[in-house]
Amino acid sequence: MKRRSQHWFGGTGKDAFIHRSWMKNHGLPDDAFDGRPVIGICNTFSEFTPCNAHFRGLIEHIKAGVLEAGGLPLEFPVFSCGESNLRPTAMLFRNLASMDVEEAIRGNPMDAVVLMAGCDKTTPALVMGAASCDLPAIVISGGPMLNGRFQGRAIGSGTDVWKFSEDLRAGVMSAQAFAAAESAMSRSPGHCMTMGTASTMASMVEALGIALPGNAAYPAVDAHRNRLARMTGRRSVELVHEDLRLSRILQPQAFANAIRVNGAIGGSTNAVVHLLAIAGRIGTPLTLDDWDRLGRDVPTILDLMPSGRFLMEDFCYAGGIPAVMKEISHLLELQAMTVSGKSVRENIADACNHNPEVIRPLDRALTPQGGIAVLRGNLAPAGAIIKPSAATPALMQHRGRAVVFEDIDHYKRSIDDPALDIDENCIMVLKNCGPKGYPGMAEVGNMALPEKLLRRGLRDMVRISDARMSGTAFGTVVLHVAPEAAVGGPLALVRSGDMIELDVPARRLHLDVAPAELQARRSRWRAPAAAMSGGYQGLYVERVMQADSGADLDFLVGCRGHAIPRESH
Ligand code: FES
Ligand code: MG
Repeated sequence: MKRRSQHWFGGTGKDAFIHRSWMKNHGLPDDAFDGRPVIGICNTFSEFTPCNAHFRGLIEHIKAGVLEAGGLPLEFPVFSCGESNLRPTAMLFRNLASMDVEEAIRGNPMDAVVLMAGCDKTTPALVMGAASCDLPAIVISGGPMLNGRFQGRAIGSGTDVWKFSEDLRAGVMSAQAFAAAESAMSRSPGHCMTMGTASTMASMVEALGIALPGNAAYPAVDAHRNRLARMTGRRSVELVHEDLRLSRILQPQAFANAIRVNGAIGGSTNAVVHLLAIAGRIGTPLTLDDWDRLGRDVPTILDLMPSGRFLMEDFCYAGGIPAVMKEISHLLELQAMTVSGKSVRENIADACNHNPEVIRPLDRALTPQGGIAVLRGNLAPAGAIIKPSAATPALMQHRGRAVVFEDIDHYKRSIDDPALDIDENCIMVLKNCGPKGYPGMAEVGNMALPEKLLRRGLRDMVRISDARMSGTAFGTVVLHVAPEAAVGGPLALVRSGDMIELDVPARRLHLDVAPAELQARRSRWRAPAAAMSGGYQGLYVERVMQADSGADLDFLVGCRGHAIPRESH
């Protein structure tokens, strides 16, 4: 069968002349177009995405691997969604980047693609776009930063920012120490080195079987990372010969493995929306309830921040994801096929746990029932989630008086108002921060507590919203309430003073207000004005789906394949 790239580069006519001649300005010799596999390398490098800023070096190792295996590597850039700078939230642009990836793959002469991801949204964006094309594809993550170090101890990306900022507001950390910590946290190239969303998604692609074993944990600056890049380049060429496309790997068993690994590592709540969106693209059935069903009994055994004590560098030395998968192998679909060309069973056969303090044995789990709990009730008819490993056990069953913030500005204005009527038993409720409401479902669900309670030593309260939270964050935080307030979900009807019941063991989230009263409030409800009309953001607000469907744009769901488009001249 004629290779896909040969529909551009093969032949003797005018069209092949055009495609080859312009490519020759790279210095490519004639035999570069002899039918060898052409490997696109999708690069999310950007100086606005510091987590991916070392990709110019990393890509050279991928290219070397492609060349060694007899392929032709060609790099292309895509929109880079950097978490730390993009406003109003990088999540608003995940779907945009995925469109960019999909169309770049389909429209260009490539036979397979290497996806270079790192910072949170770059991983799902690239996998979503590639899944909608379904060429052979392999992910390589940029790798985490080295451990942060401050005043003689390890500090973690994000996690310690939230802690330090609470300590500052509580008056137990000085402004000078807070300023000094800023330079001690991000010590090397790489992405967040807590088990935040970036490390979670690097773990998810490894557990799904679409990245090579070891992908998640090697630090960005470890020579192992470069070796892995080289092996990834070589494998990408073999994937073409084997026609090992994403759809052959992203089967239900791959998602089951990923959800279980997420429970075992205490992974980010953001993995929920990202895996749902990826499944939607490739056409594998996956629902919010699968998260609860598959993850419910998985113990969290990885002692990493934000759930535990250690960081990604420690995780690497302990054995990484293969060692975790080996510990929970009785829960995994071991026959699942992976991009290495081997099954999960073969991939983890020689894995070892080198540090049982970091990767705990099952009988010393951090949280016996980790995973993601999916809550339902009259406050979240389409579901909401909570991460038990990051929550306070005593608050997992709690009834409290609601203190409502109509939107994020209302919250910021009033949270430190001494007159705010709030105590430790109250439940903080934040509205209009969902996919349409913010827009983009920002990471604001882990609302900081009122200063007056922090100063009394309080460090956790129940919080409920239609927002997400950073994977580096912690607390008894109910997230992703669907339908969201901005579309008139029941969350929109909550008022300060209402009683709310959270019962995580029973998976229940209940607003204790009579149906007739709720009906009366609904009749007076008015949708908030959209932040922007027109442009991509207008399109996003119009077409984005709710969190329980992965917050993809409705018209992007599904695989549109990689048929060769008609000629351009
Ligand atoms: Fe990029 Fe955390 S900000 S990975
Ligand atoms: Mg984040």
